[in-house]
Amino acid sequence: MKKICLFISALLFISILSFAQTTYQQDVKMNKFISDLMSKMTLDEKIGQLNLVTPGGAVTGSVVSSDVDNKIRNGQVGGLFGINGPDKIRQAQDIAVKNSRLHIPLFFGLDVIHGHRTIFPIPLGLSCSWDMPMIQNTAHIAATEAAADGLNWVYSPMVDIARDPRWGRIAEGAGEDPYLGSQIATAMVRGYQGNDLTANNTVMACVKHYALYGAAEAGRDYNTVDMSRIKMYQYYLPPYKAAVDAGVGSVMSSFNEVDGIPATGNKFLLTDVLRTQWGFKGFVVSDYTSLSEMINHGTGDLQTVSANALKAGLDMDMVAEGFLNTLKKSLQEGKVTQKQVDDACRRILEAKYKMGLFDDAYRHCDAQRASAAILTDSNRMASRMAAEHSFVLLKNSNNVLPLKKSGTIALVGPLADNQRNMLGTWNIRGEYSEDITVAQGIKNIAGNDVNVLYARGANISDDSMTIANTNTLGKEIDVDSRTPQQMIDEAVAAANKADVVVACLGEAADMTGEASSMSNISLQQSQENLLQALIATGKPVVVVLFNGRPMTLPWENKNATAMLDVWFPGTEAGNAIADVLFGNYNPSGKLSTSFPQNVGQIPIYYNHKNTGRPLHDGDGHKFKSDYLDVTNEPLYPFGYGLSYTSFSYSDPVLSKTTISGTEGLTATVTVTNTGNYDGEEVVQLYLHEKYASITPAVKQLKGFQKIFLKKGESKQVVFNINHSDLMFYNSDLKLVAEPGDFDVMTGGDSRDVKTASFTLK
Ligand code: NOJ
Repeated sequence: MKKICLFISALLFISILSFAQTTYQQDVKMNKFISDLMSKMTLDEKIGQLNLVTPGGAVTGSVVSSDVDNKIRNGQVGGLFGINGPDKIRQAQDIAVKNSRLHIPLFFGLDVIHGHRTIFPIPLGLSCSWDMPMIQNTAHIAATEAAADGLNWVYSPMVDIARDPRWGRIAEGAGEDPYLGSQIATAMVRGYQGNDLTANNTVMACVKHYALYGAAEAGRDYNTVDMSRIKMYQYYLPPYKAAVDAGVGSVMSSFNEVDGIPATGNKFLLTDVLRTQWGFKGFVVSDYTSLSEMINHGTGDLQTVSANALKAGLDMDMVAEGFLNTLKKSLQEGKVTQKQVDDACRRILEAKYKMGLFDDAYRHCDAQRASAAILTDSNRMASRMAAEHSFVLLKNSNNVLPLKKSGTIALVGPLADNQRNMLGTWNIRGEYSEDITVAQGIKNIAGNDVNVLYARGANISDDSMTIANTNTLGKEIDVDSRTPQQMIDEAVAAANKADVVVACLGEAADMTGEASSMSNISLQQSQENLLQALIATGKPVVVVLFNGRPMTLPWENKNATAMLDVWFPGTEAGNAIADVLFGNYNPSGKLSTSFPQNVGQIPIYYNHKNTGRPLHDGDGHKFKSDYLDVTNEPLYPFGYGLSYTSFSYSDPVLSKTTISGTEGLTATVTVTNTGNYDGEEVVQLYLHEKYASITPAVKQLKGFQKIFLKKGESKQVVFNINHSDLMFYNSDLKLVAEPGDFDVMTGGDSRDVKTASFTLK
């Protein structure tokens, strides 16, 4: 046995050695190639590589680049974004490769956020699947389609931790938890990049927005961020680090400031943490004009902020052209060094080398592949599955769901037959005309014995300011020519004739996403009025909720019979929704963010601190950390989500109750499907250290497993708790585990857990 072990270790050692040797040889070859190239480059050409431009299209700022063709020809552009399609990309690449002096190819980026042509659920929805292989596959499909469309670089994953649902961009991330967020960051990077960036179905990922963009004060987009280092390291930075550990090729700096220094010019973030502490080897690109926005932040004129950003560790300037127009002068004036320019240029060229662009600049420009690989039936099927897994069943009184495939359904609400709003924010290449509405999905799935009575019932909003602001990029909220009362009357008449009402309510797609913060996150008044009228009919009302953020729904939770949160499900929206409504798929999604009872509770998150005056059940409230007018509980906690079946949990059984040094242990929990349907359950594990030198969170997710149980079936789920799971950042920002007592909590959400304890000696 000992000999076999030795033999295996030797083999392992040899293969690691040979891998290291091959990588080393590849690096030597790359370095030589780039050094040779750079020796021929003028200063202007080097600075040109640091310039990222867009000719327009789907842009997120008021500035677009001018004179793009000429700039490419003159060697003043390193990459292009905002265009797609093999032909267009070939044309632009031709200018660089055939007409610029050194023939250096461009790379081509786009905001491929939750799918390219086949649109998957918005990232917040996808995160509620807690299904890493599936999430990885959605990124892989997005990469395949994007690469077939000529692209080699995508601005995803967005991994900003967000505890404030007023912030519209909460829709683009994975919610509030660093552990879940890190797992998802890893899965997405692997899905996009695969093992080989030169393959024709992979793209370079760009993790964003580094850093802490999700902590904008008051949930207002682009607003100030101020945060302690401990909080940053413990709760906000882990997902970015996970992406770096997974080998992400690029990082996008964020719009916000941190410690009074805009992230785009923040040396602590871009160099000390990212490169020195985490060993990041790729390049850093700014966000859209975030370089020149440092002028508005108040840190200097364009020349000053550009020099500061380069020195801080920024390599590429998106659209602001601060590098292009001022770095030469700064170098002449000694404000930046030649080495700083060279380092940034080298990183951009390395990325191009790793993408294989110097061997074949047109490797993603194959028009035939584009038509074969994009929006295929199997991609649509993957989107439908992903959507079904992302839905969260919030309430299901009297088991009203799943619906019977017979009888009369009143299908009402502004989102019931609405193609324009199924895809959610960021769907640059998605086509509304190809997505499936709820009305269509029900027709496809319900069969001939179901009679559907449709009534729109309300506009998404009747508020003129909300309508105008939401519709800035296109008409997502269309206002019916009938009065609100006429629409409600029609819906109530349909409800009165039906056995059950399915009310499709919620937000328009662009009520979340960039520059889409809201101070009021409840249902719009128009829809609230409709829902009240429907509930007054006494018919069971199933709310199908479309949303890009947690919303405040206490009245709805009390009065609706059932609520299914479908986020923005993507291309196959209606089919996926109908599958779940009629029980073809039993919902299994679990929330990745807490739903507050009201906006006054924000920020509300499960991994909060205990405080010196916690509120315990049965205690009086006076002199406790609480409110006079609302409890401390969220409406729905992190990790929450129902199923058509029910699950029971045993107490967790620990393999040891005392450990020492770097020892680990296991926690085993038996989960039983006690209901009437087969179903999936996300079994969650949380840890809590009783006393530590830094105040611990009341619980912290450290593991989860998604399991399938037939009705009546039981399974044992075993979690390994490793030494690293016990670690946290101490006041020296060192990752440590401190001896003490730990609670291990297991359950189906962060509130409903059973506990066992162990001691670390
Ligand atoms: C601004 C957004 O913040 C970012 O997420 C996006 O990738 C860039 N614009 C490029 O469109």
